[in-house]
Amino acid sequence: MSQVLVASNRGPVSFSLSEDGGLVMRRGGGGLVSGLAGVVGAAPDPGPPRFPGPGRGDPGVLWVCASLGDADRAAARRAPEGRLDLDGHDIGGAAVRMLDVPADTFHRAYNGVANSTLWFVHHLLFDTPRVPHFDARARRDWQSYEAYNAAFADALARDAAPGAKVAIQDYHLSLAPRMLRDRRPDLRIVHFSHTPWAPPDYYRLLPDDIGAQVLHGVLGADHAGFLTGRWAAAFLDCCERFLPGARVDRAAGTVTRAGHATRVGVHGLGVDGDALRRRAAEQDVVERARALRDQVGDRQLIVRIDRTELSKNIVRGLAAYRELLVNHPEWHGRVVHLAFAYPSRYDLSEYREYTAAVQRTAKQITDEFGTPDWDPLVLQVNDDYPRSLAAYRVADVLLVNPIRDGMNLVAKEGPVLSERGCALVLSREAGAAAELSGDALMVNPFDVSQTAETLHRALLMPRERRAERCARLAAAATALPPRRWFAGQLAALD
Ligand code: G6P
Repeated sequence: MSQVLVASNRGPVSFSLSEDGGLVMRRGGGGLVSGLAGVVGAAPDPGPPRFPGPGRGDPGVLWVCASLGDADRAAARRAPEGRLDLDGHDIGGAAVRMLDVPADTFHRAYNGVANSTLWFVHHLLFDTPRVPHFDARARRDWQSYEAYNAAFADALARDAAPGAKVAIQDYHLSLAPRMLRDRRPDLRIVHFSHTPWAPPDYYRLLPDDIGAQVLHGVLGADHAGFLTGRWAAAFLDCCERFLPGARVDRAAGTVTRAGHATRVGVHGLGVDGDALRRRAAEQDVVERARALRDQVGDRQLIVRIDRTELSKNIVRGLAAYRELLVNHPEWHGRVVHLAFAYPSRYDLSEYREYTAAVQRTAKQITDEFGTPDWDPLVLQVNDDYPRSLAAYRVADVLLVNPIRDGMNLVAKEGPVLSERGCALVLSREAGAAAELSGDALMVNPFDVSQTAETLHRALLMPRERRAERCARLAAAATALPPRRWFAGQLAALD
């Protein structure tokens, strides 16, 4: 029985099978894991797994997550009572329970509902005529989403000590708070959204019953947390518009329905500066930073690091770099753009097509401008965490231009690790803009020409000015470390 439980689709680690059939453990990617793994002390990229025998003491935190594939399921089956004890990997006493949800249910819930429907709505990614499209198959997917949320609610109800605090994360699990409250009214539940929340005019694209069920599900929590005031306000707007009988009190930040009040709060998430700097000082990062410096020479370096994700707006970012090279030929041979676009959600055709579009656009730029002694653009698609940290260290300009983003931790990690003081070109639609707009160079992510000119300004900015701004960005980025963010959510339940 645990006093504090965390639930999320993706856990701090996931597994793959090596050629000899062994299990290889990897750090999970994305902002949610970066934030939460810091809270429970997870190492950024752990070594091989350990499977200790049963009978160890009660872990501080139990993290319940889904098995994302066959290797995860195999790992979960090998662990005593399904609990992976990752103590040997700096998870600071946390145990991880990977739920063995049937593969088909997982696929429909994760790919069908969470990633193609809810993610698209909250990031305003709809693009007629292909999506939205709610047909019989979507209804079946929805049933799987319910079953998947129920599997989490069952596991949490089983493992939570009386009166325990349960922190349920993100849009994959929007029904779980209500389901858990029905099973265990004694628990104190927070739901936290790592994404933006759609404004009512987008939210209403969802079928009425599904839209209402999602809101009703989140309102099963005692506290609903968001990364910025903008997303919290949109949630309140949706409750008011789409939930009959809901009373929204904006001054108090509460939604009351059927006698139960949910407090809505804003909890910004930053980075743990000390831990990040320590990791970036390790040998594997140092070596990669040296290799990058050798590769780039005395040219300026524009870096971007993203999952290959539609909302990250990589194609427009590349188009802006192209426009910079067209409008300002003085940069030819004097700048290199390093774009890390790591694989993501490859089961969805939209993501596969987007990946192809990123690669096509990158090739066009290379073909158009490259010379025997200048590679204007280096696109890397294989995920390499230490290389990402190395790129932060050596960047002159960091480009973060999402169409819409809950927070975006790249915008925060970069300035913390930058050695020479990088300029940050930042989309005004990222949650991070609320905290960083004073010292970042802000852009409208749809305005490619403005982004190109802003890159130009960033490259021209005198080194001292860049460094001063970067120092302030780093201070803002570390002001809300994950521990405080998480403690704030738990404290809101007292
Ligand atoms: C975003 C979501 C997270 C998710 C991450 C990576 O940050 O808010 O919940 O884990 O993307 O996406 P993935 O589908 O690979 O888990």
